[in-house]
Amino acid sequence: MEIIFASNNDHKLREISSIIDNNIKLLSLKDIDINEDIPEEEPHLEGNALAKARYVHRITGMNVFADDTGLEVDALGGLPGVKSARFAGESRDFSANIDKLLLMLGTNKNRKAQFRTVIALIWDNKEYLFEGIVEGNIISERRGEGGFGYDPVFIPNGKSMTFAEMSLSEKNTVSHRARALEKLKTFFSLIKNTDNKPE
Ligand code: IMP
Repeated sequence: MEIIFASNNDHKLREISSIIDNNIKLLSLKDIDINEDIPEEEPHLEGNALAKARYVHRITGMNVFADDTGLEVDALGGLPGVKSARFAGESRDFSANIDKLLLMLGTNKNRKAQFRTVIALIWDNKEYLFEGIVEGNIISERRGEGGFGYDPVFIPNGKSMTFAEMSLSEKNTVSHRARALEKLKTFFSLIKNTDNKPE
């Protein structure tokens, strides 16, 4: 069965391919020749994920899912949240985003934060939302070379390494995206067992 993942982010495509079953063929936007940036202008992760999935569904008519993720920091009232990618400006510079985050947090003792992923799926013309959350803490200096985004400063609860110090498979055992994807996988396995079988 084929499904479009409405993204061209190679990191995410790798993460998702390593989680999702082999019998599901994941197509990226590049694979279907959509090269423009899909606008992300909604005030919530849910709205952005749905907007991206609807955009691709309108053009292709195919089954599609899209995700939107935000880092929600307790002491900053949930910022950067839906603005995570462009926190320090339109250039979407990961390093500048971390600098701004650390500056705003300063010496604040409350370092609690969570990554939250929302996946919007359009399957057989119906819409579904799946959420995945991982809670943790923001440290005051970067650690690790792997991952992307805010990974070097985020330590998930129960671990001592940042996401950037972990292998992809270790990150996937707890990550927000993996948790949302688990729910998507459960959905696929449920519909496999009904008359509404995916091809
Ligand atoms: P997106 O909308 O899902 O692309 O995510 C928005 C921003 O959140 C990204 O540009 C990253 O800065 C950050 N982000 C998303 N997922 C992760 C992750 O797994 N680790 C670290 N940062 C992430």
